[in-house]
Amino acid sequence: MIIEPRMRGFICTTSHPEGCAQNVKNQIEYIKSKGAVNGAKKVLVIGASTGFGLASRITSAFGCDAATIGVFFEKAPSEGKTASPGWYNSAAFETEAHTAGLYAKSINGDAFSNEIKKQTIDLIKADLGQVDLIIYSLASPVRMHPTTGVLHRSVLKPIGSTFTNKTVDFHSGKVSEISIEPCSGDDIENTVAVMGGEDWSMWIDALKAENLLAPGATTVAYSYIGPSLTEAVYRKGTIGRAKDHLEATAFAITDRLASINGKAYVSVNKALVTQASSAIPVIPLYISLLYKIMKEEGIHEGCIEQIQRLYQERLYTGNEVPVDDSGRIRIDDLEMRSDVQEKVAKLWIQAVTENLAEIGDLEGYRKDFYNLFGFDVAGVDYKAETNEVVNIESIA
Ligand code: NAD
Ligand code: NA
Repeated sequence: MIIEPRMRGFICTTSHPEGCAQNVKNQIEYIKSKGAVNGAKKVLVIGASTGFGLASRITSAFGCDAATIGVFFEKAPSEGKTASPGWYNSAAFETEAHTAGLYAKSINGDAFSNEIKKQTIDLIKADLGQVDLIIYSLASPVRMHPTTGVLHRSVLKPIGSTFTNKTVDFHSGKVSEISIEPCSGDDIENTVAVMGGEDWSMWIDALKAENLLAPGATTVAYSYIGPSLTEAVYRKGTIGRAKDHLEATAFAITDRLASINGKAYVSVNKALVTQASSAIPVIPLYISLLYKIMKEEGIHEGCIEQIQRLYQERLYTGNEVPVDDSGRIRIDDLEMRSDVQEKVAKLWIQAVTENLAEIGDLEGYRKDFYNLFGFDVAGVDYKAETNEVVNIESIA
């Protein structure tokens, strides 16, 4: 069929298999162009199908020559209905990996569940023996707790008082003021349950209990800090509490991995357009201004550039991994540069509907957003008939 973007609210309900495949190929080419990284050889990526997790899988495979197992939660296609983009991304990734002679298998299901952990453990046992890198890159609004059966929902709210600031509807370009009521009840606990470190811990404990972690194994989870502009709704809001918990969890995991000399890190990454971040109020306006400045300065990066740098300049330099005062890896260094932040703060004050397309990179934001779903990708013929039913080789 001919597939076009169909928007519902802030999400796109269709995705384009060839556009997604082209995105994956472009990321692979980028990684190859940067040369080999002497890194992990057997990698488990949890949240492997889009965003930073997909970039991590691609960097592992095509940068480090690693075998990869990817875990994700994506919608399979059916006749006349497209899959979710992460499905097409993973199908394309496996095809490319297999063509290159690399081991790649995928597991599609709820990573928070005991069943999917068990499936993953069985697959590692059968095929890889042990893993030496575990990337934890889940972004989810809900988590069914595997022990209590409680369904936790995360919220993106300030804590204590109402937050009022500018935001943009990036589809229409309309800048408006938004007020977000503070969280209440169990909002903080629920958000920490979904996006904090408990599930990461459970994964690592489960792998360790089965002796599936290689000596010196490393695990990395992703976090965000961002500027004071977004602090009330992000880092000092409910999601920030979850990130605090995730960061504290890294130390707890490292302690428990002492016997195998393993290490857990949190890497603080740059703000980027992903399905997860486009749903957060205020962030899209910040990102559109940030993109403008970072592109002008020639320091803009996408997920793949970020993760390539994480591997080559942080994790696998042959020296100790550089971390900040709080023990975190920082690849948000360019975003957080004071000259960049000062410029963004000035633009923030000026930003209105009438000037945003000019002072901000609204166009770049939109393009990245459409790209997430495989649309607006150079080299793809969107007028051509395309087959929406695409299999992931290891799952089909
Ligand atoms: P994303 O939405 O692109 O990716 C989320 C991944 O998690 C997908 O592979 C999805 O299939 C998987 N997933 C979601 N729920 C699942 C479940 N129940 N079981 C199995 N898989 C599931 O998100 P992203 O932006 O790449 O975020 C990944 C991490 O990076 C998050 O911790 C996020 O906070 C962090 N981060 C994001 C940004 C940003 O600006 N996007 C910046 C810094 C850090
Ligand atoms: Na991800």
